[in-house]
Amino acid sequence: MLDRTSFVVPPAPPVHPTDLPPLKLLLGSIRNSLAIFPDYAFDTAFSRSKAFGVESVLVNDPEGVRYMMATNAANFVRPGMTARIMRAVVGQGVFLAEGGEWRRQRRLLSPPFSPRQVSILFPHFIAAANDLADELEGQASADLSDAYQVAALNAVLRALFSLPEQDERSHIGGLVRRYITGPGRPQLFDAFATSETSFAFTLGRRRSFQKRWFAAVDSLVIARRSAPHGAGHRDLLDLLIAVRDPQTGEALSDDEVRDQCATMIFAGYETTARLLFWASYLLTLDHCEQSRLRAEVAAFPPERVTSLDDLNHWPRLRLVLLETMRLYPPAPILVREPVEDDEIMGEPVRRGVQVYIAPWVLHRHRKHWQHPTAFMPERFAGQSSPWTSGGAYMPFGAGPRICIGAAFAIFEAQIVLATILNRYTLAIEDKRPVMPVGRLTIQPSYPPVFRLEKARSG
Ligand code: HEM
Repeated sequence: MLDRTSFVVPPAPPVHPTDLPPLKLLLGSIRNSLAIFPDYAFDTAFSRSKAFGVESVLVNDPEGVRYMMATNAANFVRPGMTARIMRAVVGQGVFLAEGGEWRRQRRLLSPPFSPRQVSILFPHFIAAANDLADELEGQASADLSDAYQVAALNAVLRALFSLPEQDERSHIGGLVRRYITGPGRPQLFDAFATSETSFAFTLGRRRSFQKRWFAAVDSLVIARRSAPHGAGHRDLLDLLIAVRDPQTGEALSDDEVRDQCATMIFAGYETTARLLFWASYLLTLDHCEQSRLRAEVAAFPPERVTSLDDLNHWPRLRLVLLETMRLYPPAPILVREPVEDDEIMGEPVRRGVQVYIAPWVLHRHRKHWQHPTAFMPERFAGQSSPWTSGGAYMPFGAGPRICIGAAFAIFEAQIVLATILNRYTLAIEDKRPVMPVGRLTIQPSYPPVFRLEKARSG
């Protein structure tokens, strides 16, 4: 029971009284996919819509989500549009694999992503957090939206490859960011494509990017094969090279290791950067919460973190991150297509229809949450991993294909945010609300300038 009487309600796009007309719906879903939902979506379990003859379905209920993502997951696959955009960057890695091939890859990859194994990556997260803090040193203000993108990319590249060389990290990081703002941006052709390769003439830039990208990642994998680290595993690449299939004893080939590395970079960096941004933004709206977190972090500063248990010194920080992902889920909308005709919660769903699950809506659903639009971290008190409970909270997806990097992301975000809060008090002078804009992840409507004041405990 949440018994606070005052709380912050952070910005969100207006909710439409009824369904948008088809053209507005199409344009709206390209401009800001969070701004297209009608009011009734936040009360109902299931709805249908049709635009330009294309039918889609929104599943808004934990039972329906469980059916699609777990019970009958094999019948609900990622649509061709996802593969069109992601194939060039993730190759044949786990993100786009299906069926038996996906099961094999997931079995191999799960051990390196267990919380215990991820904790060997803490020195890399700490190094990335310190790089960020050093970068901000002496600045009175900063664009933290951009700074967190750089920091999250730095963290994943360090964790994967131990890359100490700034130049190498910048080269890889530059490629990643250019893809996202260039050929990787969803196009109108993607929305109308019926398969991964439809409108082949529009895929040239993605394919030529793929060549450069894979060559860059290949060179890191090959360099490690020829000069392995000594005893012990120091990064994810060591872990991936050491992986053996428990059923067959097989290792991953060089191409497979490359594709998994490429997958982790793309799946892991922007999502975590958005989490850091929105958590920081929320803390500028709720000064009490920010002070409370700073006191928590000052009592156990980030440089003391060496083990998983050390993170238990920051319970409130974890709650704030959980609540941030409820209000601003970094992956706000998931899409599936049924391979065969099916039924979700008694509703018939035809083969090929686009089925949406929107954590954005589910996390603000009036039947599942008290004060759904309010920022109240304590709602998660006593729940250490609420995304695994099969309820209405699913920032990391659900079922067997739930995000493999959840522990990685949360640990990294805890360490980076703790480092910033330990050094700075964050504020934003611009009074314009920062609106969430859905474009694959949740971006800010403009990058606000954060004022950085040296924290007294820092
Ligand atoms: C706050 C940060 C993150 C969020 C919110 C997030 C969210 C998600 C979601 C919602 C999915 C499921 C997508 C779907 O079912 O369509 C997913 C899958 C995935 N994520 Fe994450 N993710 C985050 C960080 C990471 C990190 C750090 C990594 C790796 C280092 C990662 C790797 C993956 C991979 C490989 C998959 C595909 C898993 C599969 O299909 O078996 N993610 N993520």
